[in-house]
Order: sequence, then structure tokens, then C-alpha cells
Amino acid sequence: MFKKKSVKMLAMVSVLIVSLFMMAGCTKQEPTAAKEGTAQKGKTIKIGLSMDDLRLERWQHDRDLFVGKAKELGAEVVVQSANGDDQTQFSQCENLIAQGVNVLVVIPHNGEAMAPIIEQAHKAGIKVLSYDRLITKSDVDYYISFDNIKVGEMQAESIVKLAPKGNYFLMGGSPTDNNAKMFRSGQMKVLKPLIDKGDIKVIGDQWAKDWLPEEALKIMENGLTANNNKIDAVVTSNDSTAGGAIQALTAQGMAGKVPISGQDAELAACQRIVEGLQTMTVYKPIKLLATAAADVAVKLAKGETPKSDGVVNNGKIDVPSVLLTPVAVDAKNMVETVIKDGFNKLEEVYKNVPKDKWPKG
Ligand code: GAL
Repeated sequence: MFKKKSVKMLAMVSVLIVSLFMMAGCTKQEPTAAKEGTAQKGKTIKIGLSMDDLRLERWQHDRDLFVGKAKELGAEVVVQSANGDDQTQFSQCENLIAQGVNVLVVIPHNGEAMAPIIEQAHKAGIKVLSYDRLITKSDVDYYISFDNIKVGEMQAESIVKLAPKGNYFLMGGSPTDNNAKMFRSGQMKVLKPLIDKGDIKVIGDQWAKDWLPEEALKIMENGLTANNNKIDAVVTSNDSTAGGAIQALTAQGMAGKVPISGQDAELAACQRIVEGLQTMTVYKPIKLLATAAADVAVKLAKGETPKSDGVVNNGKIDVPSVLLTPVAVDAKNMVETVIKDGFNKLEEVYKNVPKDKWPKG
């Protein structure tokens, strides 16, 4: 649950602080580097970036944009990818701490499994930014992501619009990913009233390990067999799993007939959308996320306190957070969103569409 800071509360608190300083005869201190910042003057800031997995396309965007921005800010980045393995990611983070990075940025494969790393980092005076996915039950210092509940709502809304009634298959994401749970709770905010009314019947609900397309393919094949292909809609939480599910639908001649959602604006998904095989994706301007995260990481390394819009409770503390706004994308607004942002190129998205059917302008 994201709790926004209220402006009134902040104003009252700051008046109180200033008056206390006045009474105590202190002048208002400029925010100075807190003790914890480990960056030393004149030395290049070293950021440790611990990534769950680079197999899925979107994380390659995150890595490149994050490293590029960090370099612009004068920092160097040590990137480690755990290939979806908890133990690997844990030891890689221990290693980054031992190397003496000034700040740790973590995209956790498993938000709960990574909690003890926060304690180890703090013992070394290193702050930790939870990137895109929340590290739960820990004293993590900062969280920056998109409004993931909203992502789930957008996915379900787009499917319900096309299939207000019928047999729904729910394809969840990786069970170890806290985001997957938030997408699902957003989806259920839309679906539950229709399920309770009896308009929608959930005839399958499986979660795809590590978001892998081959997992989603297997799940969808089994779902179709178990229900004699009587599936009217598939609510899927990201594009890699949508791709696997659509492969199974294609084998039954159902692709393009069954509404199916996604997320990440992967190139293959954008192609499927303009070809009528996938209903929509949720575009999350990774450039905004990665560059804002690099800025926050450098500030944390210097011991400064980055601005946050509110807090997200992670099962232990209210984590200072920034949640960016996702964008629902289908064939109608593909050009003015994903393509206009340069996230994917027009000629690549439409490469399988006859030229005379391309959008004008
Ligand atoms: C989630 C992320 C999504 C999706 C998935 C697969 O945590 O927020 O954008 O891509 O991972 O990596």
C-alpha cells in the first residue's frame, strides 16, 4: 500500500522544527551528508547493481540506462546477474559489499530471501535501494518502482472490456516476485466483483516460474487441455509469459480470438499487438525508472536523503518510495506512446504488417 506524504502534515512538521531550532538558538542546518554515506570526496562513487536475471528483454534496457545515467553522474557501476538463482544473488551481493561499493542497488529474484543482505550492507555502512521489486521484511533504505497495483488493474480492465463474461484463465508471474503478487491484487480489484456476480468463472490459475515463456507455454497447454479449449480470456502479468501462452493458443487456432494481456512493451509483444494476437501491454518508461534510480543511488552513496513521494510498507517498515505511472498500450495508442518515446521503432513493431496498413504520419 503506497501512502503519499500529505503536504499539510509536512508543512506543520517543518514549522515545528524551525521553531524548535529558533528556540534553541540553532540556525536551520543545510542537509549535510549523513554519517552513513561511504563516498569519499574526490573518489569515484562505486555502485553495486545486483540483477535477478538478464534473460528477459526489459532488464537489458534497465541495465544499460542505469549504467549510462550513473556514468553521467560520475559514478561507476559493477553489474552482477544471478540468472534467477537466490543463492547466487545472495553471494554476489555479499561480494559487492566486500568489494566496498558505496551503495547497493538490488532487483531481487526473491524479495524475502534478500532481506538479510540489508543487515550485512548496513553493518558496512552501505545503503540499499530496492529497484522495481521490493525487498520485504527488512530495513531497506529506499524503493523505486511503478504503481504495480495499477499495472494489474490496467491488465484486467483491458480484458474485461473485450470479454465481460466467460471462462478466465489467470497466468500469474514468478511466485518469488513481490511484484507478481501486486499485479494479481490489482487484477482482482477488477475481476472479483464480476466473479462474485457469476459473470466471470476462473477456470485456471497458475504462476510461471521466473516469468519464463517456456513455463507459460506448458501452463497454457495444460490449461487448454483441462478445459477442452473452453477459455474465453487470459489475464497474463507480463509479455514474456504472454508470448508463451500465445504459442499454446496458436497451436489450437485460438490466437487472436482470446483476449490476453501483458506488460513491459517488449518488441515481440508490440508486434503481436499490432498483428492482433495480443490485446495490450503495460508500458513502463524504463528510462524514467533507471535514471531516477541512478540519481537516488548516487545521493545515498553521498549520505544524502533522496526525495520520496510516500512510503510502501514492506512487512517490517514503511520504506521511503517513489512509484512511477504505468501506461496501458494497445494497437490504437502504440505510436503515441512506445514508439514516440523511442522505446521500440515503428519499422520493427510493424515489420510483419503490410506497409499499406502502417499508421500514417
Ligand atoms: C517484474 C517486473 C515486470 C516483469 C517481470 C519479469 O518484477 O516488474 O516488469 O517484467 O518482473 O521480469
